[in-house]
Amino acid sequence: MPDVRSAIEQRLAAAFDAVHAGANPVLRPSDRADLQANGALPLAKVLGRSPAEIARSVVEELDIADLCDEVEVSGNGFINLTLSTGYLAVRLGDLAGDPRLGIEAVATPETIVVDYSAPNVAKEMHVGHLRTTVIGDALARMLTFLGHDVRRENHIGDWGTPFGMLIEHLVDLGEEEGASELSAGDLTGFYQQARASFESDDGFADRSRRRVVLLQSGDDETFRLWRVLVAGSVRYFDTVYSKLGVQLTDDDIVGESYYNDMLAGVVEELEAKGLLVVHDGAKCVFPPGFANRNGDPLPLIVQKSDGGYGYASTDLAAIRHRVLDLGAKRMLYVVGAPQTQHFQMCFAVAAMAGWLTDEAQAIHVSFGNVLGADGRMVASRAGGTITLVGLLDEAVDRAREAIAGRRSADPNNETGSDDDQIATMVGIGAVKYSDLSTDRGRDYVFDWDRMLAFEGNTGPYLQYAYARIRSIFRRGEVSVPAPAAPVLRDPHERALAIALLWLPVALDDTLATYSPHKLCSYLFEVASTFTSFYENCRVLVDDEAQRTSRLILCDLSARVLSLGLSLLGIEVPERM
Ligand code: ARG
Repeated sequence: MPDVRSAIEQRLAAAFDAVHAGANPVLRPSDRADLQANGALPLAKVLGRSPAEIARSVVEELDIADLCDEVEVSGNGFINLTLSTGYLAVRLGDLAGDPRLGIEAVATPETIVVDYSAPNVAKEMHVGHLRTTVIGDALARMLTFLGHDVRRENHIGDWGTPFGMLIEHLVDLGEEEGASELSAGDLTGFYQQARASFESDDGFADRSRRRVVLLQSGDDETFRLWRVLVAGSVRYFDTVYSKLGVQLTDDDIVGESYYNDMLAGVVEELEAKGLLVVHDGAKCVFPPGFANRNGDPLPLIVQKSDGGYGYASTDLAAIRHRVLDLGAKRMLYVVGAPQTQHFQMCFAVAAMAGWLTDEAQAIHVSFGNVLGADGRMVASRAGGTITLVGLLDEAVDRAREAIAGRRSADPNNETGSDDDQIATMVGIGAVKYSDLSTDRGRDYVFDWDRMLAFEGNTGPYLQYAYARIRSIFRRGEVSVPAPAAPVLRDPHERALAIALLWLPVALDDTLATYSPHKLCSYLFEVASTFTSFYENCRVLVDDEAQRTSRLILCDLSARVLSLGLSLLGIEVPERM
């Protein structure tokens, strides 16, 4: 069954079509009624009539009495629609019996690659990697829920010339010591020491250069050492992932090195297609429309003059592999904004090569920087730089304190044996939610106090809203009623009904631009609407029909919050 917005839009579109073919009404929530359509304004010029006149003609054609109680045209040609309370109640009854809460699976599932996280071996995972991990995971969850065949790909940086120096440093440190430094998360220390030796010690630098050659020529012992490096780092990444509760596993690791054997083929194919130009000795493609500051065309370097391959070669091979071998119809690259030009150029070249088409699209899901409260890097409580694991542990500690502080003020507080688990859900949820709820295009300030606040558009507020609803059932010793259409008499009940029915619409809007903050705003709206309902409508009333009806609204609110948060990768506690 179509969601409420689509149901209304279909009727409106038919009526608009009767007035003027191809008109496209846009529907939004409104303060004046429940919904507002503004399709008349753009037609005014075409038809030489006033928007209000056109809107009135549309309304004459409109067959919508089963969905709307009132339809009214405003002076400037907007069509204001008041949904029928009976219709809302019936739809809510359906929702109550639907574990998917109205979100239908797609009719034609697609293979979709989500390229996210992608930290670099033996280099610190920074807060930027936190963002890609959290956003990518949320998008992967939503697309999976819709029934798509989602492939999570962790394109880790596990190849390149620095590996000569890193392997030599590993040899000097001793394998065991080196690997444990890496898996403990001291990646910065490891990398910087390797760099320091490279710069101060000529012998080390020579060994490092020879090592690169050995690595590239596939020397067994060198490969073994390289694998020790990768495995040590991956253990650290896994610690971060499991603390974060993201769904990436080692099976999702398809790092840069995976494409080594495909690189020569990519160059050959580009050559055969006549796209390669030799520029300063390097093999390049010049995609139209890219220029440097002086207006000179910009090359995408596919093979360097020394025969080596770089970041762009690997990404071209990845696109080709994903489309031709995996059958991907969509590829989402959840990577920070500084790499915008890199991806635009790769995508342009891939389109020239015929790998990207209307049927196989690549989208750069870019995001802004994470800043500390002072506009600089995020620091630990002690003031020093902080590893990602350290940051996540600190989040849980702070959540524990915040919950304890709140409980001491609450006479009904329910402490229990699962307090650690609750602190983890709230701390990690707060970090993820603060990231997801910011428009990904914008920079975002990492602010402990704001993310852990129990008021406003925060993770703890939504988790608390959920737990509070569950406590209504627990404390009232009532169970969830069997699914049925609730009675909507009070305006607060009605407002809540509309909010609850909007979940599939919110998910659609979120995925239309891959913007998780839209789902966050929606869930915040649900929680706020629930709060006003709860403050204005007593739930555990004597009248049984009304009590059942309100309990259904409570349960649906909890389920919408819990499903919505789970699509963002955030867990909900049963009590807080
Ligand atoms: N490893 C890169 C970095 O840390 C991100 C890789 C993103 N994915 C890709 N296919 N290029 O910046």
